[in-house]
Amino acid sequence: MEKSSGKKNTAVLISGRGSNLRSLIKYSKTKKSLIRIVLVVSDNLNAKGLIYANKSKINNIVIKYSNKKKFEDRLLKLLKRNNIDLICLAGFMKILSGSFIKKFYQPILNIHPSLLPKYKGLNTHNRAILSKDKYSGATVHIVKEKLDSGKIILQKKVKILKSDSVKSLEKKVLKIEHKIYPKAIIKLLASG
Ligand code: GRF
Repeated sequence: MEKSSGKKNTAVLISGRGSNLRSLIKYSKTKKSLIRIVLVVSDNLNAKGLIYANKSKINNIVIKYSNKKKFEDRLLKLLKRNNIDLICLAGFMKILSGSFIKKFYQPILNIHPSLLPKYKGLNTHNRAILSKDKYSGATVHIVKEKLDSGKIILQKKVKILKSDSVKSLEKKVLKIEHKIYPKAIIKLLASG
């Protein structure tokens, strides 16, 4: 794999829609991008996001998830073969094991649709609305073994209006996600 440009060889892991993948691809095509997306991996054959990888001619692979160990062994081999320096989880719905994180050794980022440490896990928008929170938002963080608990790289808030539904809040937060994921990558890589 060619590394001379100094850009980090990046793998994006998805399970579904892929709107964050699309925003990362867009960023990776900018002149000043610090990453080159060389691989997209999905655990779901029907992930819509695979369309974006194909459109941009990015090598993409579906690894069927039969069990964690088999999946992670195959994934690790693939990452090594492609000289991957950075993993970006983008709507990837499986939890990576501590042993995988240790073996991969390079940074793994995730984007989460809440103001962590609030609302780890699923249904974040519903939980924020039910708790009558004034703000929600999105967080990019380093992936550690404990779910949604690694160091926060970047976070941005949005106001929750009385009129907001789960759907409208999701839409607002997603808009922010697409902006902060590339910014978080720049922040992480610029800090060495
Ligand atoms: C996003 O809300 C992200 O924060 C969460 O899963 C969703 C993925 O959306 N981890 P998309 O597949 O990137 O459109």
